[in-house]
Amino acid sequence: MSIPFRSREGSQRPSASNGIKLKMPKNKDKIEESVLDMTLRPTRWDEYIGQKHIKDNVKILLRAAEERGHIPEHILFYGPPGLGKTTLAHLIAKETGRQMKITSGPAIEKVGDLASILTNLAPGDILFIDEIHRLNKVVEEILYPAMESGVLDIIIGKGPSARTIQLDLLPFTLIAATTRVALVSSPLRSRFSGGVFRLEFYSHEEIGKIIERSSKLLNIVLEEEALKEIAKRSRFTPRTANYFLKRARDFAQVKAASAKNSGVPKQKSGNILDKKIVIDALNMLAVDDIGLNSSDRKFLEILIEKFSGGPIGLKTIAAAMSEEEATVEEIIEPYLIQLGLLERTARGRVATKKAHGHLGFEFKEKQEKLS
Ligand code: ADE
Repeated sequence: MSIPFRSREGSQRPSASNGIKLKMPKNKDKIEESVLDMTLRPTRWDEYIGQKHIKDNVKILLRAAEERGHIPEHILFYGPPGLGKTTLAHLIAKETGRQMKITSGPAIEKVGDLASILTNLAPGDILFIDEIHRLNKVVEEILYPAMESGVLDIIIGKGPSARTIQLDLLPFTLIAATTRVALVSSPLRSRFSGGVFRLEFYSHEEIGKIIERSSKLLNIVLEEEALKEIAKRSRFTPRTANYFLKRARDFAQVKAASAKNSGVPKQKSGNILDKKIVIDALNMLAVDDIGLNSSDRKFLEILIEKFSGGPIGLKTIAAAMSEEEATVEEIIEPYLIQLGLLERTARGRVATKKAHGHLGFEFKEKQEKLS
């Protein structure tokens, strides 16, 4: 298999000879998503909306390192998918004029993979490891001295004749990202001496600004009410907002073309999005007016109908949905919790009164006491 490799500009270079592996997106949606991310990705701090706390801290860290003539220390970003962890890493590379090499936890299978990546870095490079929580233990232990002292300890041979050789590495900054910080071991976490930063969901206003910026970059004329509709359903997440914007544009384009073919007069151009077009497009994607998709609704319906609103354990509800626990925990639940539709209690998951109301279920007294 070729070895896909991305430079900091985000271009894809096939089969670099340095042995770096990058897991490619598995399906078409993901490929499209990453192309979209690249087009709309902010390239300067002042273009990056929201996450002020992180921006302020990282900017100081970078500036101080530059003034001392050092490379920036290692940084860990965590939080739900789509909030901009990778975007921040790209931005740091761009703003500091460094090259960034990208890989991911599951792509680094063996110690040799990591050794090859680290020994191929140029001085001052940034190494970005996505999904760092999926790094295996043996590889993780090689990373400790590399992060802390800039050395690579390699064991050669087996049994009594085994010996360790130590290679000096060129200075590098590791930026890592995870959706599951609890699965990152504390020895690894503590080595991110530049900071461990949690990305927060965006406010309505911030999402609105991101949609506005993206629509300009994509040459879309977005009416005010249409923008509000997209923002309302975007799960406080830029990736979702941008995805909806593009899908609404597709929808408008196809509708405009078929109207023109059938001779409908005064049809709006495919690049003009009004409230109706956006609502129709998002309804077609089965996204409701608070941004719940069919998986979110199925989760709540099962919780309410099969398990009387909870409390119920993660394993049980994931099995009832035929869904992986990680998907439930990382993708479905954070937004439901953010909206106040779900609570994670010591005894398990509980659907709130608001969740019952939203889906049209009666809320019973038992649940009132629990939630
Ligand atoms: N696109 C994705 N995330 C963004 C952000 N935080 N600011 C601006 N544009 C974005």
